[in-house]
Amino acid sequence: MTTRTKEIHLAKRLDEVGFSDIVQIRNKVLELRAAGKPVHAFHGGEPFFETPDSVKYASLRALVENRTRYAPSSGIDPLRAAIAKKLQTKNHIDAGVEDVIVTVGGAHALFVAFQCALDPGDDVLLFAPYWTPIRDMVTLAQARPVMVPTSTARRNGLTTALEHFSTPATRAIYYNTPQNPSGVVFSRQEAEEVAAFAKKHSLVVIADEAYEDLVYEGEHVSIASLPGMAERTITAYTFSKTYAMTGWRAGYAVAKEPFMTGLRKLVLYSTNGVSTPTQWAALEAMAIPQEAITARCEEYRQRRDLLVKGLNELGLECDLPAGAFYAFPSVRKIHKDSRRVSTMLLEKAHVATIPGVVFGAQGEGHVRFSYAISLETIAAGLDALRKILV
Ligand SMILES: Cc1ncc(COP(=O)(O)O)c(C=O)c1O
Repeated sequence: MTTRTKEIHLAKRLDEVGFSDIVQIRNKVLELRAAGKPVHAFHGGEPFFETPDSVKYASLRALVENRTRYAPSSGIDPLRAAIAKKLQTKNHIDAGVEDVIVTVGGAHALFVAFQCALDPGDDVLLFAPYWTPIRDMVTLAQARPVMVPTSTARRNGLTTALEHFSTPATRAIYYNTPQNPSGVVFSRQEAEEVAAFAKKHSLVVIADEAYEDLVYEGEHVSIASLPGMAERTITAYTFSKTYAMTGWRAGYAVAKEPFMTGLRKLVLYSTNGVSTPTQWAALEAMAIPQEAITARCEEYRQRRDLLVKGLNELGLECDLPAGAFYAFPSVRKIHKDSRRVSTMLLEKAHVATIPGVVFGAQGEGHVRFSYAISLETIAAGLDALRKILV
């Protein structure tokens, strides 16, 4: 009788899934700081202000009042109701409470969205450069990411570009506006083009509106608000950026059936919901008035203007980002290899950035600077760059 030897191994579907190089940069920054060297930190993706006190106290209240037990895995009712109201009034999406699910941040909302929309072998159109984890999330759903270069697409028309890159296997489009890393905000007309394309080819749209409150030029248009789109769109949102709640891990998704059933199953079996006190804190965040959010946006605008002017003066050509909190200048005048440039800026000027190639081949020749930092840090970083570049 032959005995079959079994070897333990990692599930094959993880073979092609990577870790972001952003972690390596973070480690290098920590090393420099540990060695007593000040670092101008442009590499992060977190708001410059702290979680509002009202939100922190709401979480404390929930703890003290023993609101610490299992909540419904899709989210506590008052939070889902507040989210549905916000989606109707601010995003103009036709959503009821039953169309909302609370998730562990925007990343989890996107993860479950791809898992419930894709079958193995499907293609997903991604505007590139793209937020790095998206490629891995698509791969983990055993689908294939297909890059659509954003700047060429905007020049020649989105429909032309989408037609060019679509295949018989195309099943979904990832639509992120405002975009990380480029700061692009798609116009209403562009949203309408993507919507028409999705309807014509029976595609699902996975919309990522993590930066919906950070728009400096133009308007934020939720693609699910356009006619006939709510039923084919899963939109992911997060509390991380608007309310400075990155570490709380709270976000949500809005979708119709059959996707909502899929999202509920995936949330149930992945996390069984978001921590109960965090959900009460998120509910309090939703009570923060729009004027306070708009005032924050103006603070980001000041930072954007200071950074982009400084980069252009240094010869690092940079378009004015219309949204989010990143600038994405060309660094080709230093070197075409963005990893090399990013390492050089860190070693020589202690300026931490993210190489553009991390966001896909279309990002090569650029580096990403975050301006979600103090005006003083931006000014000091620009001074340090001036010393090595001029
Ligand atoms: C484009 C984009 N989408 C979604 C997210 C998700 O953020 P979180 O998981 O913190 O909610 C991020 C965070 O950086 C992002 O840049």
